[in-house]
Amino acid sequence: MTRVGVVGASGYTGGELLRILATHPEVEVSYATSREYAGKPLTAIHPHFRGFFEKLKFSQLSLDTLASQCDLVFVNTPHGVSSSLVPKILDMGLKVIDLSADFRLKNPADYRVWYDMEHPAPDLLAKAVYGLPELHREEIRTAQLVACPGCNSTAALIALLPAVESRIIELERISVDVKVGSSEAGIKASLGTHHPERANVIRPYDVTGHRHVAEIEQELQALAGRKIAVGMVPHAVGSVRGALATVHAWLSGDGVDEQEVWRIYARRYGREPFVRIVRGAPFRYPDPKYVLGSNFADVGFGVESRIGRVALMAAIDNLMKGAAGQAVQCMNLVLGLDETTGLRYPPLRPA
Ligand SMILES: NC(=O)c1ccc[n+]([C@@H]2O[C@H](COP(=O)([O-])OP(=O)(O)OC[C@H]3O[C@@H](n4cnc5c(N)ncnc54)[C@H](OP(=O)(O)O)[C@@H]3O)[C@@H](O)[C@H]2O)c1
Repeated sequence: MTRVGVVGASGYTGGELLRILATHPEVEVSYATSREYAGKPLTAIHPHFRGFFEKLKFSQLSLDTLASQCDLVFVNTPHGVSSSLVPKILDMGLKVIDLSADFRLKNPADYRVWYDMEHPAPDLLAKAVYGLPELHREEIRTAQLVACPGCNSTAALIALLPAVESRIIELERISVDVKVGSSEAGIKASLGTHHPERANVIRPYDVTGHRHVAEIEQELQALAGRKIAVGMVPHAVGSVRGALATVHAWLSGDGVDEQEVWRIYARRYGREPFVRIVRGAPFRYPDPKYVLGSNFADVGFGVESRIGRVALMAAIDNLMKGAAGQAVQCMNLVLGLDETTGLRYPPLRPA
């Protein structure tokens, strides 16, 4: 059994990781940290774990204990915190899967621009592997540090990868619209996220320059070998979980019809264990409602030949394929396990 630590285990992604790892056959959770709940059982903040993890309590983070009790560590802290913690954990010889934004960008100058601070460990940016298995599977297998993508970025990239790889769309102006549920904002309430303000909203935010644009452009540019411009408008919506990315793009030539897009997506994703193409009854397009609680990304598209436009969509559960599920998928690869271990179950319905 691999011994796994969860740093930042009292939040939503930490809780979702623990939920998956509770029944994962190849790992055991040996350490879970929280400053606020140290010394208390996991049920103090995660009531759904009654009957699970009965011997485990939250601990204050101690690097010495981490080194002696863990082989691999998930880090679920806010950006700016991960960047100072992760180098110390790596120095102790542990493998790290970081869910924050701190190691996603390759270029320290980009980190400075998008995150308004100097990166404290710029040398690690080149070594970190962007944790999207559909794009970097082989590199993830040998990574010491995996930087898991953001949830909006995961949905946008999965919607876009086949279209960009096959160059069926214009790369100069890609527009992404994301709707995302409230759990994206983490467990602590703020004016914008507590229930009376957040319930039933369809609220655009960061409509120019959302930080996830940086990693989407980085990954698409590496794929296409040229500059790509992406605009993104995220919307906070009333659901708790789920993210839907709808990409508006323009076909780069005539003659690409829906059948051709289908062939391209089916070829690209046919062997991906967690990507499903949606086409047909009862619902024609991806909907986060039908991936909730699972690691699946549902992908779909529509072509409007009259004006040469294509709509590309991907629906995920932001806490699963957008965070903890994808992190476990990466962990499986790092540990040389079947990628689907502990993750192969259908979504909840109704939810
Ligand atoms: N929510 C999502 O859908 C989502 C998706 C993808 C990626 N992410 C990223 O994943 C990370 C965690 O997100 P989340 O939604 O789980 O946030 P969260 O619910 O706010 O949880 C944050 C966790 O980090 C701990 N923490 C905060 N500051 C800390 C510090 N200075 N030192 C040590 N521990 C600290 C908190 O525990 P204590 O305060 O008790 O110590 C808590 O366990 C963030 O970087 C986020 O951007 C989130």
